[in-house]
Amino acid sequence: MDPNRRRLLLGLSAAGVAAGALPLLRRAAPQAPAVSAAVPVPVDAPPAQRNAAEAFANALRRPGAEGLLAEVDLSQSLTLTARVGAMTVFDGAPTELWYYAATINGRQVANPLLRVRHGDEIDVSLRNQLSEDTTIHWHGLPVDEANDGSGLHPVRPGASARYRFRVTNRAGLYWYHAHPHGRTGVQLQRGLAGLLQVDDDEERALRDALGLPWGERDLPLMLTDKQVDTTNAIVYREHEPDDWIGNRVLVNWTPDAYLDVLPGLYRLRLANVANARMFRPAFVHNDRELPFFLIGTDGGLLRQPWPMESLFLAPAQRADLLVDFSALPVGARVLLRSLDYVAMENEDESGAFAPDPMGDHPGAMRMGAALDLMEFRVRAPARSIAAIAIPTALSAIAPPPDTRAWPVRKFRLRMDADGTWLINDWNFHRTGHAAAFAVKRGTCEVWEIRNHMTSMPHPIHLHGFQFRVVSRSISPTDIRARQVAPGGLTPQDMGWSDTVVVWPGEIVRLALDFSQPFRGTQNYMLHCHNLEHEDKGMMVTFAVTD
Ligand code: C2O
Ligand code: CU
Ligand code: CU
Repeated sequence: MDPNRRRLLLGLSAAGVAAGALPLLRRAAPQAPAVSAAVPVPVDAPPAQRNAAEAFANALRRPGAEGLLAEVDLSQSLTLTARVGAMTVFDGAPTELWYYAATINGRQVANPLLRVRHGDEIDVSLRNQLSEDTTIHWHGLPVDEANDGSGLHPVRPGASARYRFRVTNRAGLYWYHAHPHGRTGVQLQRGLAGLLQVDDDEERALRDALGLPWGERDLPLMLTDKQVDTTNAIVYREHEPDDWIGNRVLVNWTPDAYLDVLPGLYRLRLANVANARMFRPAFVHNDRELPFFLIGTDGGLLRQPWPMESLFLAPAQRADLLVDFSALPVGARVLLRSLDYVAMENEDESGAFAPDPMGDHPGAMRMGAALDLMEFRVRAPARSIAAIAIPTALSAIAPPPDTRAWPVRKFRLRMDADGTWLINDWNFHRTGHAAAFAVKRGTCEVWEIRNHMTSMPHPIHLHGFQFRVVSRSISPTDIRARQVAPGGLTPQDMGWSDTVVVWPGEIVRLALDFSQPFRGTQNYMLHCHNLEHEDKGMMVTFAVTD
C-alpha cells in the first residue's frame, strides 16, 4: 500500500468510530452522500468515457465455434491448458492474455463457454503452462475440496490436475476462474476466467416458452474492465494493488461493443467478472431507463420475474434479464449503461489530504462513475416478429427457509489501522491457511455478516454451498428502496446466491444448509470477491466436518 493511502486510512479510522456511533443520522443526512449511498442520479449524467459518435464500433462477440467465448459441451472430457498467448482484443496491436486453451476437433478455443446439464459428471483436466501456480475454481458449484480448485490445491508450473465431479446445481450461469493464493487478482485481470452454463428441465421449459434463439436473442454478457496501456497491454501493479479498476470495459471480450437487435424480447445473462468494479447496469434509451425483468440470479431462476430499472452487480455476481425492445422505433439506440452510484469507499471520502484516487489506475473510470458498457441498435426485422408473453411463474424455487431455530454465526467485515481487511479478526495471511472454524456437515446455520460503517461494499462469497439471503438491515437508502419482501430483501435476494453484497453499515443474514454428499473434512474458502481484498487476505478457510 502506498504511504499516502495508508495515511489516509489511518486518518479515517477515527472518523470511522464517530460515524459508527451515529449510523442513522449519517445515513439520513442527504449532504453526506458517501454514507447515504447509491442515491439515484439523473441518467443523463454524461458517461465519463468518450463521445458517442465514434463509440461502439465493434460487433459484440457471441458464443461461437472458435476463439474466446467459443462454446464447448462438457459431455466429453476436456483438457484446458493455462497459457500465455497473444489475442486481438483491442484495435491495433494484439494483447497478451493468460487464458484456458483447448483444441476440440481442430477448433482452437480460449476461455470457452462450457455447457453442462444438471446431474452430469464432468471431467476437465488442467495443464499449467504458466510460470506460476494456478487452478480452476468452479465458482458457485457445490463440489468437494479436491475439485474446488482453491489455492489449497495449487497446480504447479508444468503440472496437471484433473477435476471430476457431478454437477448438482440448478440451471443457471456459473463461471470458472483461477484461484491461486495471492495471485487471483493478477491472473483474472490477465484473462483466466470463463463462463459455465448449467441446463435443467425448468430452464428448458422456460426456453421453450420464450422461444428466443440461443446466441441471437438469448445471450451471455460477460462484463469486465481492464487497465490497458497505449500498446494494448493489460497492466497490473503486482505489489499490493488496491481495488483494481480499469480504463477499458469489455463485454464478451469486446471493447466498445454493439449488438444489432430486433424490436422484440431479449434474454441477457449478465456476469460480472471484473476484479473489483461493481456495475449498476441499466438500459438507457433517450436518457430514460427501459424497464426490464430480473428472472434469475447466481443460482438460477427466480419464482417470478421482477420488474427493475437498474441493479447492482458486484464482482462474481450474475443476473438473468429479460429486456423488451419491441416498443422502440427502428434505428433506436439503447445503451447498456452502468449508472452513476455512490461507491461508499471510505478511502475516497475525505477531502484535502486525499491522494488522487486514480493515481494507482491511470485513466481509470472511478468506482461508481457512469459508464457505457455497450450499445443495442434496433434494426428492422425481415418479417414481423411475434409478441412473447413473459411467464408469470418461472420456476418452483422454494421460499427461503424458516431460520428462527437455527444457530447464528457472526462475521464482521472491517479494516484495521494498517489497512488490512479482516473477516472477524481473521486475515488469510495472518491467520494462516488452516480452517478458522468448522461446521458440521448436515447442519443448518444462519450466517450474519455485518459490515463496518466506514467500509466499502464487499461482495462476500463462499465456496461449496449456494445460500439464500434471509434479511438485510441497516441498508443504505437505495438498497432499502429496492425492498420487495419482508426482511429488506431486494429482487436479487429472491433466489439462490453464491455471492452477496454487504454494504457499509449493513447486516445481511444468510441461510446455509451444510448438507453435502462428501465425507471427512472438506475445506472451503469464505472471502470477499473484490480480488484485491481477497489477495490481501480478506479470506479464510472453513472446514465442513463429519
Ligand atoms: Cu469466484 Cu473463491 O471465488
Ligand atoms: Cu467461488
Ligand atoms: Cu472486499
